[in-house]
Amino acid sequence: MADFTPRVFSGIKPSGGLTLGNYLGAVKRFVDWQDRGTHECIYCMVDLHAITVWQDPADLTRATREICAFFIASGIDPERSVLFNQSRVPEHAQLGWIFNCVARMGWMNRMTQWKDKAGRNAEAESLGLFAYPALMAADILLYHATHVPIGEDQKQHVELTRDIAAKFNHDYGVDFFPLAEPVIESVAARVMNLRDGSRKMSKSDTVDATRINMTDDADTIARKFRKAKTDPDPLPSEVAGLEGRAEARNLVNIYAALSDVDAESVLRDHGGEMFGHFKVALADLAVAKLSPISAEMRRLTADPAEIDRVLARGADRARGIATPILERTYDIVGLVR
Ligand code: TYM
Repeated sequence: MADFTPRVFSGIKPSGGLTLGNYLGAVKRFVDWQDRGTHECIYCMVDLHAITVWQDPADLTRATREICAFFIASGIDPERSVLFNQSRVPEHAQLGWIFNCVARMGWMNRMTQWKDKAGRNAEAESLGLFAYPALMAADILLYHATHVPIGEDQKQHVELTRDIAAKFNHDYGVDFFPLAEPVIESVAARVMNLRDGSRKMSKSDTVDATRINMTDDADTIARKFRKAKTDPDPLPSEVAGLEGRAEARNLVNIYAALSDVDAESVLRDHGGEMFGHFKVALADLAVAKLSPISAEMRRLTADPAEIDRVLARGADRARGIATPILERTYDIVGLVR
């Protein structure tokens, strides 16, 4: 394999609100990568992905700016990392088209998110929703990213990205695109629904009490944790004791991720406690960690012009990396430019 610059790419879709899952499974990790300083970091609001399902235009604009504010409020520095929205860099769509021609229908048909979202009504879904993972591969490979931090639910899409890179390299007899690594490293790689520990916490769930939104105030956060489903037993003292207790495990993992320790250490401190007690500690911790972020988000979104300046500058920097890679791709494919 050729030598690639160590580079991180990841994205968040501006559709609906932001949840604690987006924070713990993604953005908190993005900040770690940035602060480690070993990799160039590129973070994107993937607005072209959002419109694979119809979005109200004003909501899409608002959600894109809100995610930008979320990144910055969580610790992403738009000077040290590249921060931009996808549609401003048209090379994503251009490379996405080429990958539509590399990826196979069978591969797309096997994507569990496609199967979940399209359900039995695939005929009525957009062509964009079906091709979604090929555009995601373009996001990553347009920058020759080597590492992709994501929550568990995106793993299959990054594996498909590797398949697309490998097939492109093989079909054109080149060693051009890297096989990007999915990085799923947190105890909170899969933050679960507060009312049903077998389902993921999701911004699209119709019941608000199932998730913590990044914009929830302190009282709401406390109430949601207080009402979160648990079981009647006390907390175990070891991780093995969480077996078969999905809701208990979820709350322990959230506590661990918020306090940057592992689940063992949480249970060492809280083993034997009843949930009534633990939930109060968890709510206090969550409020302490999340309130400064939501306050800063409110401050930043009050000045949309400043956010748009950040995004415009980020897009310029992104294009500086993307343009030569897309040009080289055109040459490899034989497109006259
Ligand atoms: P999206 O917008 O659904 O989610 C953004 C990130 O948040 C993570 N996440 C979670 N992690 C843990 N627990 C949860 N409950 C939870 N909910 C969401 C997701 O795993 C993701 O990392 N297809 C992607 C966006 C995308 C992308 C990319 C990501 C487009 N192109 C290129 C990486 C690289 C998506 O819809 O994420």
